[in-house]
Amino acid sequence: MSNLVSGFSKFTKEQKIEWLSENFLKGNKDANQILRLYWNSDEKLQQLHDDFIENTISNYYMPYGIAPNFVINGKHYVVPMAIEESSVVAAASLVGKFWSDKGGFRASVLSTVKVGQVHFMYGGSKTDLESYFLSKKTDLLKSTETITENMRKRGGGILEIELRDKTDELKDYYQLHVTFETKDSMGANFINSCLEAMAQNFEKEDIQIVMSILSNYIPECLVQAEVSCEVEKLHPTNGLLFAKKMKQAVDIANVDPHRAVTHNKGVMNGIDAVVIATGNDFRAVEAGVHAYAARSGKYKSLTACDIENGVFTFSIQIPLALGTVGGLTSTHPLSKLSLEMLQNPSAKELMQIIAVAGLAQNFAALRALTTTGIQEGHMKMHLVNILNQLEASQEEKQNITKQLSGKTVSYSGVADALKTLRA
Ligand code: MEV
Repeated sequence: MSNLVSGFSKFTKEQKIEWLSENFLKGNKDANQILRLYWNSDEKLQQLHDDFIENTISNYYMPYGIAPNFVINGKHYVVPMAIEESSVVAAASLVGKFWSDKGGFRASVLSTVKVGQVHFMYGGSKTDLESYFLSKKTDLLKSTETITENMRKRGGGILEIELRDKTDELKDYYQLHVTFETKDSMGANFINSCLEAMAQNFEKEDIQIVMSILSNYIPECLVQAEVSCEVEKLHPTNGLLFAKKMKQAVDIANVDPHRAVTHNKGVMNGIDAVVIATGNDFRAVEAGVHAYAARSGKYKSLTACDIENGVFTFSIQIPLALGTVGGLTSTHPLSKLSLEMLQNPSAKELMQIIAVAGLAQNFAALRALTTTGIQEGHMKMHLVNILNQLEASQEEKQNITKQLSGKTVSYSGVADALKTLRA
């Protein structure tokens, strides 16, 4: 029997679940109930979530936590984080507090230029193409006027249109490389609409448009953040050793891509969590940030560490395309609340907050790795997760946590301890 289906998107939610249960979850009598357990009882709110994507059958929760005590450019913040990984929020909170009495974080936006491209093929003379492009440039801008009207009022819009010859790398391949300022919106829809309008206007018999799309590589939409203090303030007994080990950890990530990827994954723990909590596109951020980490031709650390004249400085520089208006930021009630708790930042301010979250997370990871090891903190949360899996009661949880304090936690070890306790 075929499990292929047609007209699926037209099914009601109940019909979709029924089809799924009959075809792919046959043995699971609880499937229907599990899916419904996550429906919101507020029908309007559920409808809002149903409408975010297609073929919605339920909601997939992520824990939503907050990290207090962040001081950024002298302003106090509580940072919202949506993430399923244990220890990340705790680490952010600890590091926020740690730096709060050492001058806090300093952050600044270096540039806010976004990029979009019309990719096309052209086999004729380059000079003819250049003349055609020059004759068309004003027209191309005109073709986007209705789309850019509101953005221009806010001080944004199209910055420049450039013709780029890529024929060295691919036969007949050229681009219109377009730069944008999108102010407080991430600008994906805006950029793509502009590009499609321009492509339509630019196309002729000998110019074959392949595609028009924004680029998620935006090395000119950059933010930097840093912390610094005298090395003695870093550690109660041996600040210099601590500082040196932190620097060695960054040096290692700069020479070894295996380590760099994990190092940067830790950075992204902080970044993604705030990106998601504020309704931004974490896939776009991830793609752009990792490309930036490899901009020298080698994948390296996103963070930097210096020790000079007894002062330890830890910093980050990353590209971030974010919005604080439009898209999910304005429709998802929790995204709106996240932005509100951040005092409704501009996109630039949000870039700074998120860069700080990444820097803080990396500081926490390296501090743990170069001192106690990462497992000490992870084990505590790991134990909670295992106890939850084993459906331990609150009393059993307290008892086992005490028993296993300071010990290496394994599933079988916890299961055995629980069995003995229950016996
Ligand atoms: C785990 O999610 C992140 C770390 O592996 C980061 C790192 O190794 O730097 C701890």
